[in-house]
Amino acid sequence: MSDDGFNARIDALLADMTLTEKLGQLNMVSSDLTVTGPGKRGLPLADISAGRVGSVLNWWGAEETRAVQRRAVEDTRLGIPLFFGFDIVHGQRTIFPIPLAEACAFDPVLWEQTARVAAAEGAEDGLHITFAPMLDVARDPRWGRIAETPGEDPFVGAQFARAKVRGFQNGSPCAIAATAKHFVAYGLVNAGREYAQVDVSDRALHEVYLPPFHAAVSEGIAAIMPAFSDIAGLPMHANRKLLTEVVRDRWGFKGIYISDYAGIADLVSHGVAADLAEAAALAMLAGIDIDMMGFAYLKGLPAALERGLVNMTQIDVSVRRVLAFKFGLGLFDDPYRACNVGRPNTQRKRDRRFLALESARRSTVLLKNDNHVLPMTDSTGSLAIIGPLADAHHDMLGPWSALGEADETISIVDRLRLHWPHGRIMHVAGARLDSGDDGSIRAASVVAHACDISVLCLGESRHMSGEAGSRADPSLPAAQIRLARAVIDAGRPVVLVLCCGRPLVLPDWLVDGVDAVVVAWFGGSETGHAIADILTGSFNPSARLAVTWPAQVGQIPIWYGMRPTGRPADPNELYSSKYLDSPVEPRFVFGEGMSFTSFTIGEPVLDRPELRVGECLGVSVDVANTGSMRGRSTIFLFLHDAVASISRPMLELKAFRQIELGPESARKCASS
Ligand code: GLC
Repeated sequence: MSDDGFNARIDALLADMTLTEKLGQLNMVSSDLTVTGPGKRGLPLADISAGRVGSVLNWWGAEETRAVQRRAVEDTRLGIPLFFGFDIVHGQRTIFPIPLAEACAFDPVLWEQTARVAAAEGAEDGLHITFAPMLDVARDPRWGRIAETPGEDPFVGAQFARAKVRGFQNGSPCAIAATAKHFVAYGLVNAGREYAQVDVSDRALHEVYLPPFHAAVSEGIAAIMPAFSDIAGLPMHANRKLLTEVVRDRWGFKGIYISDYAGIADLVSHGVAADLAEAAALAMLAGIDIDMMGFAYLKGLPAALERGLVNMTQIDVSVRRVLAFKFGLGLFDDPYRACNVGRPNTQRKRDRRFLALESARRSTVLLKNDNHVLPMTDSTGSLAIIGPLADAHHDMLGPWSALGEADETISIVDRLRLHWPHGRIMHVAGARLDSGDDGSIRAASVVAHACDISVLCLGESRHMSGEAGSRADPSLPAAQIRLARAVIDAGRPVVLVLCCGRPLVLPDWLVDGVDAVVVAWFGGSETGHAIADILTGSFNPSARLAVTWPAQVGQIPIWYGMRPTGRPADPNELYSSKYLDSPVEPRFVFGEGMSFTSFTIGEPVLDRPELRVGECLGVSVDVANTGSMRGRSTIFLFLHDAVASISRPMLELKAFRQIELGPESARKCASS
């Protein structure tokens, strides 16, 4: 939000502000209602009344924010209002699928719709800004935050960025500001270990990791949050070249930078600052406006001024941007505007839950369906529901869902019971979610033997992914592996349902031993409902993987757009790019996903034989639904530059389209 139109009022405020009041505007503090970072939390109400706080995170509720806002407006000398921020990453009260799941819908309209509802619910909770969308391209399932990303592809990431910015910021009357995070290349943390070092080529930085952020800036994102990580030893919170020279000066970003949680103070731990004063100076010079929970600006900038590490003009630039942001939110006209949005009526809540169901259905990927074991339309038989996620509620909400109304979510088994009359469904957990046995594997085996078919619900808890959720071995916990083997050994058809925040490494015998594989990720408030709809055929699955699933941990990182190398993998050539002890191919590839119907795609037709610089090429294909069920197909347009001045990825995604067709019907699908 630029400061056009507010300049005179900002100039007058700046001229009147003391240093403490200026630094207060750059200081963001967290309540202790939820925990999203280390160290001491809790709203310092005395500091707020004294004007030493400019914004607050992790504090929500119309009346709760009104009470704290009143302290800033009425107790402080200048009455400058606060703004309130929260991580509304995939929903506020109505929880949508995690971003990695929703990306599998390949539908920018849906992505925008869910952001709009999330924004409305955030506004109803008195919030002004969300710390989302998270736009890090991620290709390493060991990294827990892959759950929060739109997956491995920069083009998908850019489309996701645009849709989410529009959804959060452009809805009326309840829009909120959005924050593109974590800038940049955080998904490359070494060995998938959280907060670890990052090294990236300039080409990969510009072709893969920057594009989603550039798209967000082009769409008018209000704020950007730097990553905790470094690039080649320069921490992002001190990276003036990228934050200011590229994003502000070259891309034209006019919004504010909000540090990540204590990210400025962490510059001391990074070893690039001797103390808070140096850390504050480095971040200020890099262009960061607000210090989230680091107190580096409040406590370090006075000393930095004294030492000549920064000057008052530099501080004023950031204060001006923060004041302009608050003017842009309308806070100076009505500090309590967000507190008066009101609560949704029953119909609106119902509409939101239906959107959550639609989004969960569209994000659930069918990856195997041998012998047409799905959909299970015959409910006259007996059904075994087994696994620690069969009756899960909270875990289905995934990470970053503090306010998700878990008691209103329906589990897989509860929803399936609506289809199978009582007595013909048998449910056993069979294991705990973590590696602990709960001693019911034998009972699960008995049930699997006794029933016509088993639905085996395995995966992760919501705490096993997200921030600080890195796993060196991203596979199923040992107890679930033992449970799966017992169920498969019963010799009956098995449908595997995976609820997880990342691609999981699955053993060959498990994938080969089941008849169907359904990846539901963490689908949010309506996960159980959506899974049951797909298992019973009420909904024809259409999702496609937005991230590659490795076959072995040793393959990581693995993604579809790798370069061919000088000796492309050839199973018949010893001297080619491959392993002695593992396949080169992943378990499941980017873009993979099945339907209950079948589609054919004709040869691509180009609208011109040649393409000159600056021209646009139109491509169309004929798509036919050759099956007996209405379905939705995603058409991907990949390119490969066969001979170029540098080696190019084997495939680069340049467009995707969705097409919905009734049985036995066809239509042309065009790229532009
Ligand atoms: C966390 C996360 C960031 C989040 C912030 C505030 O550490 O890295 O994504 O927005 O703190 O909760």
